[in-house]
Amino acid sequence: MILTNKKSVSAIVLAASVVASSFSGLTVKAEETEVTTNWSREQASKIELNEDNTLPYTDISELEKLAADYHIWDTWPLTDRDGNIASVKGWKVMFALSAPNDVLPGKVHDIATIRYFYSKNGKDWTLGGTLFPEGASLGSREWAGSAMMDDGKIHAFYTATGHRGEAHLTFEQRLAMATGDIIADSNGVHFENWGDHKIILEPDGKYYQTKEQARQGEGGGYAFRDPMWFKDLKTEKEYILFEGNSGGAVGDRTFKKEYAGSSEYTSENPVPAGAVHANANIGIAEVVDGEPSNLKMLPPLLEANYVNEELERPHIVVKDKKYYLFTDSHINKYAEGLQGPEGLYGFVSDTLIGGYEPLNESGLVLANPPENPYQAYSWLVLPNLNVVGFAHFGDLGDMSIGDVGNQSAEFQFEHFGGTLAPTVKLSIKGDTTKVGKEYSPGWIKQ
Ligand code: FRU
Repeated sequence: MILTNKKSVSAIVLAASVVASSFSGLTVKAEETEVTTNWSREQASKIELNEDNTLPYTDISELEKLAADYHIWDTWPLTDRDGNIASVKGWKVMFALSAPNDVLPGKVHDIATIRYFYSKNGKDWTLGGTLFPEGASLGSREWAGSAMMDDGKIHAFYTATGHRGEAHLTFEQRLAMATGDIIADSNGVHFENWGDHKIILEPDGKYYQTKEQARQGEGGGYAFRDPMWFKDLKTEKEYILFEGNSGGAVGDRTFKKEYAGSSEYTSENPVPAGAVHANANIGIAEVVDGEPSNLKMLPPLLEANYVNEELERPHIVVKDKKYYLFTDSHINKYAEGLQGPEGLYGFVSDTLIGGYEPLNESGLVLANPPENPYQAYSWLVLPNLNVVGFAHFGDLGDMSIGDVGNQSAEFQFEHFGGTLAPTVKLSIKGDTTKVGKEYSPGWIKQ
């Protein structure tokens, strides 16, 4: 989501935070510091575009729409319980947020609906329809999620944003799910017999900010969304990852040294007051007794306090026994004094919980080229390291993304992708990554 980023806080708040910081180290509970890593300002300050992380230019006006009648954006495949891309009687299935193609790009989030596609070759996709019957899901719109197949059933996780049937759009975000039957034959795939939709997780206000706490601030975002299924094959334990914000209202936040980095860095790069508004985190909850709707909330895997305001669609790929934690973020979500592109970011650890280090030192894995900084977004790294994302806004020249909504409808439609971007291959070696070959849009197979 791109929202206007208002960063305004008085110097007094910073002074208070800095004073508090000298004591806060003494009061932090050991368990919290061990399990949650903070992406530091020092690490993020190393972000730079280079040939290993910069995508080739995409002319998005040349892309064919995945679905002629719909804009689509965030996309995810059906996996099996272990996280492999599923095959249902030879069909692969992909889900995407969608909205009718006559809706202005800036309005699509307000009526987002999950639709699904199926394909034999993982390349040419046929639109199946909406994932859920009309009116069944719990929000007033459906935001990103994931889907896992087990024993002929689909467990579909999504974000219930707002509340079903509300007259005016509200922004509460809750993690939700429903389970249904997968029916596949030579004609394609569909879903039937959906059970009740359930809310499976809501922010606790301690580790994860509630919408009420978010409102108490003078700016800054609110997120509790994008449930992503993950099974740790080392331990057989199962989890849901999600996008959140660190708990508490802005006035309750205390600055900690580790948010900035080393003393050398901090002495040269004082933390601006407005940075207090950035409090994105990557949340995790453990599945209890193998029942995906029964979750135990855990402390966040990663926080970006004083660094970044939105770490979207977090997901993990395990390679060479290491956990690679990926997430997406926007140019305008960086804390005051830091800069980064619309990009895919990543962290690596030997353990699922704790110990994450940014990939490529800074965390930046994949970025749009500087001449087309909004060409794609919402990248998802698949188990085979193919990365799918959607085509966002192309060829805006010097226009900032916030200005797009002020242009004519014609301009907005002309520059909006609303379809899949080319799939791109990522290679990973230890704690470094490299952008590789591009494939046709939406190709999820190697
Ligand atoms: C990323 C995102 C997701 C959210 C969806 C809403 O593009 O902001 O975090 O679920 O878009 O449309």
